[in-house]
Amino acid sequence: MWSAVCVITLGVLLSRAQAFLPVGTKGNTHVTITKNAVMKKINEVCKAEAVSAGRTFNPTGSSVEEILRACLGTSTGTVSAAKFHEALNQIYLQNSLVDRDFMSSDPHHFNSEAFIQGRTLITQGMATVKNNIRKENFQAAREALGRVLHTLQDFYSHSNWVELGNKKTYPNLLRRDLTIDNVAAPNMATCRDCASGTCPNQLTSTILRRKKLTSGYINLTSSNKPKGKCSHGGATDLSSKQMPRGGISKDELLSHNAELHKAAVALATQASVELLDNIVAAVGNQEYLRFMGITRFVILCFVIDTTGSMADDIAEAKRVAHNIIDSKKGTPDEPSEYILVPFNDPDFGPVIRTTDPNKMKAEISKLGADGGGDTPEMCMSGLQLALTAAPTSSEIYVFTDAPAKDTHLEKTVFALIASTKSTVNFFKTSGTRSRRSTGSSDFELYSKLALASGGQAIRVSKAELPKATDIIIDTSTSALVTILQRARKTGSVESFSFLLDSSLSKVTAYITGDSLKFTLKSPSGVSQSNSVASGSLAKIQTVGNLWRLQFNSATETGLWTINMDSKAAYTIKVTGQSSITFIYNFVEEFKGPHPGFAVIEGRPQTGLPTKLLLTATSQKGAESLTVKEIALVEVSGSQVVDGKIQEMGGGDFLVSVDKIPAGEFVVMMKGEEKASSSKFQRQSTTQMSLSKITVKATVDSTLVPGESFKLPFTVKTSGKSGTYTISARNDKGFPLVYSTSVSLVTGVSAAGTVVVKPPANTESGTEITLTIAAEAPGGFDSNYAILRLTVLAKVTDFTPPVCEITGVNSACPSDCTKSNWDVAFNITDGNGTGIENIFIQEGKGSLTQKTVVEGGITVVKGNFTSSCCSPNVTISIVDKEGNVGKCTHSIEEEEEEEEEGEENKEGGLAFRLFLSLQAWIKP
Ligand SMILES: *[C@@H]1O[C@H](CO)[C@@H](O)[C@H](O)[C@H]1NC(C)=O
Ligand SMILES: *[C@@H]1O[C@H](CO)[C@@H](O)[C@H](O)[C@H]1NC(C)=O
Ligand SMILES: *[C@@H]1O[C@H](CO)[C@@H](O)[C@H](O)[C@H]1NC(C)=O
Ligand SMILES: *[C@@H]1O[C@H](CO)[C@@H](O)[C@H](O)[C@H]1NC(C)=O
Ligand SMILES: *[C@@H]1O[C@H](CO)[C@@H](O)[C@H](O)[C@H]1NC(C)=O
Repeated sequence: MWSAVCVITLGVLLSRAQAFLPVGTKGNTHVTITKNAVMKKINEVCKAEAVSAGRTFNPTGSSVEEILRACLGTSTGTVSAAKFHEALNQIYLQNSLVDRDFMSSDPHHFNSEAFIQGRTLITQGMATVKNNIRKENFQAAREALGRVLHTLQDFYSHSNWVELGNKKTYPNLLRRDLTIDNVAAPNMATCRDCASGTCPNQLTSTILRRKKLTSGYINLTSSNKPKGKCSHGGATDLSSKQMPRGGISKDELLSHNAELHKAAVALATQASVELLDNIVAAVGNQEYLRFMGITRFVILCFVIDTTGSMADDIAEAKRVAHNIIDSKKGTPDEPSEYILVPFNDPDFGPVIRTTDPNKMKAEISKLGADGGGDTPEMCMSGLQLALTAAPTSSEIYVFTDAPAKDTHLEKTVFALIASTKSTVNFFKTSGTRSRRSTGSSDFELYSKLALASGGQAIRVSKAELPKATDIIIDTSTSALVTILQRARKTGSVESFSFLLDSSLSKVTAYITGDSLKFTLKSPSGVSQSNSVASGSLAKIQTVGNLWRLQFNSATETGLWTINMDSKAAYTIKVTGQSSITFIYNFVEEFKGPHPGFAVIEGRPQTGLPTKLLLTATSQKGAESLTVKEIALVEVSGSQVVDGKIQEMGGGDFLVSVDKIPAGEFVVMMKGEEKASSSKFQRQSTTQMSLSKITVKATVDSTLVPGESFKLPFTVKTSGKSGTYTISARNDKGFPLVYSTSVSLVTGVSAAGTVVVKPPANTESGTEITLTIAAEAPGGFDSNYAILRLTVLAKVTDFTPPVCEITGVNSACPSDCTKSNWDVAFNITDGNGTGIENIFIQEGKGSLTQKTVVEGGITVVKGNFTSSCCSPNVTISIVDKEGNVGKCTHSIEEEEEEEEEGEENKEGGLAFRLFLSLQAWIKP
């Protein structure tokens, strides 16, 4: 059965094709509902965090950028909102994708009275979100959240909850331990006929009187539906032409259903907030904010070769890490997360991830240089782990003195670079102690990977390595932007120009290559040649194949040039720090009853206009910028192709490019800052190219430890027919079973499966990044799909812990500063998995707890003491499955709270909330 119209749209004016976009919408869509709920919860959590840190939370406006700044409490320094936008877009885009990937699934849209199954999707989805957050797999968690919110929101539009006169949300949708028992029987008629299709309320009086729950049936291919049942309604729903005709969907605001539509939107928004609240209660405020992308986002990610000859390099990596940790402490550039991946031969990993600087120091100190021989190392394996563990758009630094042995992973690593948009930098050392070859061909793979990702491949002697690592300090900032990046495969005499704007600070250029000469020229005509180490424009240092140009702090704005004169290959990169930047995704249109755009995980297809969705950001929000040009630019050539720009509002732009550069390209944005009239340019770093091949795969459930999981995929080509090679890889080393070749006929899609079996002892919440690559005969073309899969143990505990208040002392005098109040409570988890965490979610005070066993029952006895000036407390209690219970008390409202406690026994929401479970997930 179909679920066709799932977006709640306001007004027919709104183009259907854009109804999903996280941008520019005038009405209520899933995305605007999600946005409103997400931003409301972010504001609440930011405020609570500010209060507990003794700060105020006063955003200067409602833009995403201003909320971020206020939430981080940063008074100085440049804060970039790029990561925050990226996190939000991950949620919004997956939310709308439910209409493509689960178009015909009733439970995903609460169609056809699939209430129990829909609720299971919600509770499983919540478990996936929580487990992924616990494991810091934030992207997978965001994607699962986007989907689960879609289903929850559809309940209010597709069921008769609103028609039944309910003014509150339905809490049982979030709790699998509560029953949904008021559903209309299968043979019970639910609607009266409505010939016009625009009746205000078609439900039978029996349904309304007996408060029976029902939802609309929908079918796009046949008018069949069970006798007497309501239809969803709308032009695409053929069942709505069958008696009883009409439909009860409240997706769109139409004249006959305005009130119902508005009520559905309001409840869908409120329900979304409650679901988010349950997640906050399970993971805590700080993790929740990281999950939402509110963090300084400076990742220090090292991939280090630990073979015998690497002692000096390891010592240097350690020195740099210590330097960054100590010198950037307390600034906006202090790393928010540390990632360390050792590799050797034949071992690599494990990935060490921590937010604790002292742990990072200790872990690097623990690395010893030993083992390995004269042979190349498992560098690509280590890099693969780093690319999957690090958040998207991270800077990764690889230290090695040997070539890579595991070059079979080359394609996977290129695919991961393109999909994560992370930048990889190599420090390839050589020196007297190195017994290994350092020929230029060994270096070539590193150069290629660095260029594809927008990073640097630096070749340097071990003795000089400390001079090269300044680049790590330069790039350890969340506000790093790229202004220009170009590469030439052969020597040339050429001039490269670039715009510097007034928002930039710490402008630095890097030039790599051998035997080069260059001259830097300012807008007013002042020049400095590479031989002048300390001139009027920049400080120029050189080490190995790297030149570093630190522009003087009073950098002139306007058009600068670098004139190159070189006999060999070289690269140029100009960077700076600024809050003006952009994020982007290549997207494709999808058809169906609810068309829209979806992110392309692999390379975009040839022969179609290439479309991208771009979000611009600056200190005060995108409103302060005028975007004038968005183009695709060749890095190793000179072609620049302008795109057609469609502004969608809120800083979002849909860009369409008809004639794509032949080679690898990046995205460039040019514009002007309105207030200063300063012209700027920014460039993306990840190189992309088109492919004739498409690889598609969709996952709709989670994996279970010890059980085989079959992942279907399809491959198609618009190129030549023939035998294509398939390779599937994953970052956890789980065995994969699949056919390594597929016979393709031009234009005909072929299906395959990858079977993956996570070992029985796989920890619940483990994320697997799976890459499926297809390569044309001769290797001239390739493409891939990347999937993030979650392994979740089967959940048996659906019951949240229970909190019972056993006593309150709250004699507070009018001068609150002199006295305390306290509350005592008992917490039990029944037959559940046991309490994992108890923490103060809201309120200021001290919490003590003691676990006692009485008559075989484990009771946690808690006591919370607070100043009388702080009247409220919410204590969150999470069991091992992520089910959340709450203790709340307010000395302002003691009377009312007792009543709430009564309500609670009937399954209300106030005291103890929710539940969760094992789940499904999507790439
Ligand atoms: C639509 O109805 C036909 C005929 O009863 C049925 O075979 C088909 O499964 C239905 N489709 C959906 C998507 O429910
Ligand atoms: C709280 O737990 C204690 C056991 O530690 C028990 O003696 C007491 O009766 C419980 N109180 C209530 C109100 O359940
Ligand atoms: C909480 O603990 C304090 C200090 O031990 C005690 O004085 C108070 O009576 C306790 N509160 C309740 C309600 O039992
Ligand atoms: C625990 O399980 C037993 C047996 O199934 C049941 O009788 C009992 O009521 C359960 N206790 C709770 C607190 O759910
Ligand atoms: C305490 O909670 C109540 C709602 O229960 C709220 O109205 C009140 O503003 C809160 N007080 C403080 C100081 O946060």
